[in-house]
Amino acid sequence: PLVPTGELVARAATEHGCVTAFNVITLEHAEGTVAGAEAAGRPAILQISENAVRYHGGRLGPLALAAAAVARSGTVDIALHLDHVTDVELLHQAADAGFSSVMFDAGALPYAENVAATASAARWAHEAGLWLEAELGYVGGKPGSPASAHAAGVRTDPAEAADYVARTGVDALAVAVGSSHAMTERSASLDHALIERLREAVPVPLVLHGSSGVPDDELRAAVRAGMVKINVGTALNVALTRAVRDVLEKEPTLTDPRKYLGPARDAVAATVHDFLTVLAV
Ligand code: G3H
Ligand code: ZN
Repeated sequence: PLVPTGELVARAATEHGCVTAFNVITLEHAEGTVAGAEAAGRPAILQISENAVRYHGGRLGPLALAAAAVARSGTVDIALHLDHVTDVELLHQAADAGFSSVMFDAGALPYAENVAATASAARWAHEAGLWLEAELGYVGGKPGSPASAHAAGVRTDPAEAADYVARTGVDALAVAVGSSHAMTERSASLDHALIERLREAVPVPLVLHGSSGVPDDELRAAVRAGMVKINVGTALNVALTRAVRDVLEKEPTLTDPRKYLGPARDAVAATVHDFLTVLAV
């Protein structure tokens, strides 16, 4: 069934575990993710990024409606989340498109601007009944700070994170602790002591972005240290694309898309199953 994101995150926090969120670009990502979650007997979050929405012509509806329908068809709990939103117009459409939560991404802005934009987004989201995640990645708001909060080497300061959550009223906080987006190899190492300090300083659940690049044991340690929502995107695309390439290399004259999208969907399901099994800590 389709359940609210806030409910899955709250449950994970209570159990000192995590809920894993998988990025959806195509229908096969959604189907594969729900199949993998079913096989693992674990809940999951389907998340659609603003970039994926742009790929689908800037319209929220088509992929969100499909993902929600896939979520409803299963027996495990699945939530629908709008990821990395910078355009407030998309935030304003989220509830009507079936999302129960949004990640509002002002992480590249200087601190004061991030606070102002995110506080306003959180007020709006809460009035619309949406759970809101935001991101804080660098200390201070100094000019010349790294543009992405999830570039390797960027870190979130615990005192600033506590101030940020108090000022913005967000429901969860994405923090920079050593992971980096779009890694195709799992070689990132996380700052577990910093995760613990953030957990102590911040009253809302912590979110790890860029989890595709983090090895299994590091992910498990991150959850033990206090990460509650684990975001996985690139690992699904690595598996999906490898499956397509394998089929097409073996059969270069093939034309029926089901012959390569089917194995691609299975590869997504297997990857999701593996992450959920590793993260069932
Ligand atoms: O918000 C999405 C995640 O941070 C995914 O990152 O593609 O590096 O796993 P990833
Ligand atoms: Zn992310």
